[in-house]
Amino acid sequence: MELQGKVALVTGGSRGIGAAIALALARSGADIAICDLQPTPDAEGILKAVTGLGGRASFFPADVSDFQRAQKVVAEVVAALGRLDILVNNAGINLDRVSWKMSEEEWDRVLGVNLKGAFNYARAAALIFRGQQGGKIVNISSVNGLRGQWGLANYAAAKAGLIGLTKTLARELGSSHVNVNAVAPGYIRTKMTDALPRQAKDDALKETVLGRLGTPEDVAHLVAFLCSERAAYITGEVIKVDGGQYI
Ligand SMILES: NC(=O)c1ccc[n+]([C@@H]2O[C@H](COP(=O)([O-])OP(=O)(O)OC[C@H]3O[C@@H](n4cnc5c(N)ncnc54)[C@H](O)[C@@H]3O)[C@@H](O)[C@H]2O)c1
Repeated sequence: MELQGKVALVTGGSRGIGAAIALALARSGADIAICDLQPTPDAEGILKAVTGLGGRASFFPADVSDFQRAQKVVAEVVAALGRLDILVNNAGINLDRVSWKMSEEEWDRVLGVNLKGAFNYARAAALIFRGQQGGKIVNISSVNGLRGQWGLANYAAAKAGLIGLTKTLARELGSSHVNVNAVAPGYIRTKMTDALPRQAKDDALKETVLGRLGTPEDVAHLVAFLCSERAAYITGEVIKVDGGQYI
C-alpha cells in the first residue's frame, strides 16, 4: 500500500491499458480519477473495482485534446479528491494510413489526442506538482515511436513527440522533485489492437523473443513501479514493455 493517501489521474482509464493502470495504482493504495471521453459501463466497472479495493474513485468526462477542459479537469480532480500526486497520460487513438494517403484530419486528430493531450494535462499538473514540490508523470508512448512503423506516420510521430516531451518535463521539473518517465509498450492485446488486421498481430508475435503478446497488466506493473518511491531516482527515461519486440 505504498501509494496510500496519493491521488492518481489516469487519462483514457476506462478500458485497456489505462484501466489496468488505474487498478494497479489502486491496489497500491491510491485514490483514482479517470478521465475519458464519456462514462461507459467499462468505466463504471473500473470505478467499482477501485472502491472495492478500498479506494476512492471519480470519473471526469473530457476529450484530452481540449486544452481548456484539461485545466478544468485537473482542478476538478483536486476539488473532488483533495490533491493530485500522479498523472498517467494514457489516452490514445490510432488512425492508420500510409503517409501519402493520410488526410490532414487523420494527422491532426492523432497528434491532437496522443501528443497535445499529454501536454494539456502535464501543463496543468506541473503547476500543482511545483507548488507541492513533488509528483509523478508517466506518459504512455510506444515502441513505434522509437522505431517508426509502416502506415503509422501520425501515431509514430506523436509517440516520438511524447518522448521529447517526457525528457523536457523531466529537466524542467526535476528540481521540484517530480519524476517524469515514458513507457513504450509493444503489441498489447486491447480493443485498440483487436481492431487491427490479423497480419499485424501475427507479425508482432513473431517479433517478440518471449513468444507471447503483451497484456495490459504487463504495462501496468511498470507504471505502478515508476509511480512509487522505489523509482524515486528514475527520471527522463523511456522503458519498453514489449517482450523483446524491438531490441
Ligand atoms: N495496445 C497496444 O498495443 C499499445 C501499444 C503501445 C502503446 N499503446 C498506447 O497505450 C494507450 C492505451 O491504449 P489501449 O490499447 O488501451 O487503447 P484502447 O483503445 O483500448 O483504450 C484507449 C482509451 O482512451 C480513451 N480515449 C481515446 N481518445 C480519447 C480522448 N480524446 N480523450 C479522452 N480519452 C480518450 C478511450 O475512450 C479508451 O478508454 C494509448 O495511448 C496507446 O497508443 C497501446
